[in-house]
Amino acid sequence: MSEKKQQVSRRQFLNYTLTGVGGFMAAGMLTPMIRMAVDPVLQPKKSGDLVAVVEVDKLTTEPQRFDWEIDQVDAWYESKVTKTAWVFIQEDDSILALSPICTHLGCTVSWEGNEEYPNQYYCPCHGGRYYKNGVNVPGLPPPAPLAVYDQDVKDGTLYLGKAISRKGA
Ligand code: FES
Repeated sequence: MSEKKQQVSRRQFLNYTLTGVGGFMAAGMLTPMIRMAVDPVLQPKKSGDLVAVVEVDKLTTEPQRFDWEIDQVDAWYESKVTKTAWVFIQEDDSILALSPICTHLGCTVSWEGNEEYPNQYYCPCHGGRYYKNGVNVPGLPPPAPLAVYDQDVKDGTLYLGKAISRKGA
């Protein structure tokens, strides 16, 4: 059996070496770029998570305002966002947590925000009003009731999630 000695020319050696080094450097540069591009897509979505807001025994039949913070992720940008709800215990002992965002143009409503309209939420922007249960008073700018937060009660604590829109009155 004859052995044929393989010779590597200087040109081939340089080609192999430069290709290997170039590939290694390209992989080193591209890996973090690809990871940055894909990473937000692979992160678990947190928007549907419920957050502890208040102990249930602090709630009354009168709407109270509660604020809490959530982590918001927009692609690569992470920030803290303050959320607000008007929360009270209804006549049937269930808890109602309403979004304060007016369904007309998005201003913030307040419970008894205008002394001329007691027992209603009032929007200062265009005079929109809502009944205690968040249903919009007919004949005014808001086209729909206030959104209701997704909620759960665990170990005496109220957890709130996403605000869910309701159909117009
Ligand atoms: S934004 Fe509330 S009434 Fe227009």
